[in-house]
Parts: sequence; C-alpha cells; structure tokens
Amino acid sequence: MREYAKVGMSTKELDEYGGEILKSYGAKSAPYETYGFPGYSCISVNKEAAHGIPSEKKTLKEGDLINIDVSAELNGFWSDNGGSFVLGKDIHNHQPLVDASKNILRKAISNIKGGVKISEIGYLIETEAKKSGFKVIKNLAGHGVGRSLHEEPENILNYRVKSNRERFKKNTTVAIETFISTNSTVAVELNDGWTLVGNKGGYITQHEQTIIVTDKYPIILTESNDIWN
Ligand code: CO
Ligand code: CO
Repeated sequence: MREYAKVGMSTKELDEYGGEILKSYGAKSAPYETYGFPGYSCISVNKEAAHGIPSEKKTLKEGDLINIDVSAELNGFWSDNGGSFVLGKDIHNHQPLVDASKNILRKAISNIKGGVKISEIGYLIETEAKKSGFKVIKNLAGHGVGRSLHEEPENILNYRVKSNRERFKKNTTVAIETFISTNSTVAVELNDGWTLVGNKGGYITQHEQTIIVTDKYPIILTESNDIWN
C-alpha cells in the first residue's frame, strides 16, 4: 500500500487496493470485522493521528504525512501492523518525526524478552522520544494479539506506569506500537466517531509490528511490511 500510494490518489482508492490484497490471502480486515470500521485499513493523513477513515474526498498530496495501519484475521489468527511515511518530497520536514518513531520501535522491540517489565519498555519509548525532542501519546498503546485483535496485556503504553508490574511472557504474541508526537500527549476523537487527532495539535507518527516474545530477540511476524527500510 505504501508503494502504491501516489499524489492525487484518494485514501479510498488506496484502501480498496489494500482490501484486494487481504482478499487474495483469504484474510479479513480486523477493524471491519471487530469494530465495524468503515474501511479495510486505517489511513490517517497529516493531523490525523490514527483510525483515519478512507475517503473519496481525501486526496493525497506531495509531502503528506501518511499512516497506514493494517490488522487482519486469517484462520482464527490475528495480527496488527502499521507505519507512517512521507509521500514524495518531504516539503514539510516530517521525516525527523517519522525516523524517531521508526527507530524507537526498533529499540523497544530489541529490548523485549520474557520477564521484561512492560513499564520498562514504556520508559524506554518515552525517554527516547524526549531525547529526539518529541512527546508520546499517553492514551494509545500496543497490546496482546493472536486469537483476537486486542488481548492481554491490554495496554503496552509508550510511557512508564510505575505501579504496573506486568511482564512480557515468553511464547506470547504482542503488537508493539509507538505514538510519537510533536505537540500533543493525548489523542481525542473527532465527531465522525473514529478519527483521532492530538489534543494540542501537531503531528503524530506510529510504527507497529506483531512479535513473538522469546527469551532472546523477538520473532517479528510482520517484518515483511518493510517499515524499517
Ligand atoms: Co495497528
Ligand atoms: Co495495534
């Protein structure tokens, strides 16, 4: 979908393309199946942080900050992945925010193994975001995934909650996702009942992989999405 996205294309057209790919695998869109989301994937453009609704009225422009989040079900198994990128020339200088999110996700995942505290990974994400001059969104989070889209642990937050003693467990599948932001710390819903934007405006990037926790480096199940390249 990222390669297919072009200036002048509507987000609806991009979503239809993604929908065809899901169908070719015999897979179903998770947000559509689980929540009745009006699209196959969430496509959020510029100030939209997440859960953007694909629309014929939204046309992609040069330098747009785009996030595509795809989650799907096949034969009773679910997975979730996503990434932000700049379309064409980076005329609005979004790339530093995109790179921070990408690199922080990589660092977070490389520190996850069985027994590591979830709050420790939250601390890492928050600290790395600050170091890059950015903030984190506090009310969006990674989550367990596998037999449904959202499972235990329900909140793998991008900051540390000291009282949270939960730990990553070996041989479980989790979706790890960053929410790195220029201004906002809370995502708020628009009147369409779906689209999330920052409470203080600005831009937000997200990168997400579904992984299997092991006792060493995790197995990244969604690695072929190429979000790190
Ligand atoms: Co997702
Ligand atoms: Co997710």
